[in-house]
Amino acid sequence: MRVHVLGSAAGGGFPQWNCNSGNNQRLHEGTTRAQARTQSSITVSADGERWVLINVSPDVRQQVIGFPGLRPAPGTRETGIAAIVLIDSQIDHTAGLLVLREGAPLNVWSTEPVREDLSTGLPLFKLLEHYCTVNWNEISLQQPEFRIPQAPGLAFRAIQLESAAPPYSPHRNDPDPNRGDNIGLLITDERTGGKLFYAPGLGKTGPGVADAMAAADCMLVDGSFFYEDEMVRMSVGTKPASAMGHLRQSGPGGMLELLGDYPDKRRVLIHINNTNPILDPDSPERAEVEAAGVEVAYDGLDIEL
Ligand code: MLT
Ligand code: MN
Repeated sequence: MRVHVLGSAAGGGFPQWNCNSGNNQRLHEGTTRAQARTQSSITVSADGERWVLINVSPDVRQQVIGFPGLRPAPGTRETGIAAIVLIDSQIDHTAGLLVLREGAPLNVWSTEPVREDLSTGLPLFKLLEHYCTVNWNEISLQQPEFRIPQAPGLAFRAIQLESAAPPYSPHRNDPDPNRGDNIGLLITDERTGGKLFYAPGLGKTGPGVADAMAAADCMLVDGSFFYEDEMVRMSVGTKPASAMGHLRQSGPGGMLELLGDYPDKRRVLIHINNTNPILDPDSPERAEVEAAGVEVAYDGLDIEL
């Protein structure tokens, strides 16, 4: 399986359009070695021709143009995007659907609560009916294994996650991992047996997450915040990481400690918020991540499994 990181930043990207502090300010000034990053999305393919787009970020146009696998071919109006999987209904994971409105029917896979959000609070599916067809397919937590006919060779397993529905969702303050507002994906290449665990929004660990991590050869997991109180430390917000559905990397019970249980696997942090000091390759926090044998994703990262 080929895995290509299209966007490694959290919502807002890096730099964020209205931010002039910390990493953002240093990037504007050219005084950091940190690299700009687009918003959260990856794409995977078993054959290198038919690609599954996982999440559709507001930066999707730039991401598609920048990656040859997704360029229009072989027809005159074509795309390498065989299907789309949405793991939640967050704006940074779905707003790019509007950018794909000129396309042929979009084959979209999600859980029912994500379909509900995208038909009500953020009615992208309703809007798109006026531009292109959305062929929606349900990811059921009762039958979490699914295959996508348009992208053969890959088996997908939905992993229930404790995270958070978006601020506009009626479920925002009523988390229930059994409902399916947020899922992770365990993706298996049926020929090579290679397995990827993808969970860019992961608030808490649980048995499903532990099983997926144990099964995976490589994991791309929530790297949003290094500190629980990072927004407060950086004077840009009040919410703790956990209130936004993200497990911080530092400290007891943090992501780095959790990843320490899997020293032989490839472990990569993704969905990195623009406040996170690990964006700066010269920061002590980045040194701590690297000393733990953990990588920091960047746009364009390719992984073969
Ligand atoms: C999140 O995962 O918390 C989102 O990135 C929030 C957002 O889209 O602004
Ligand atoms: Mn996000």
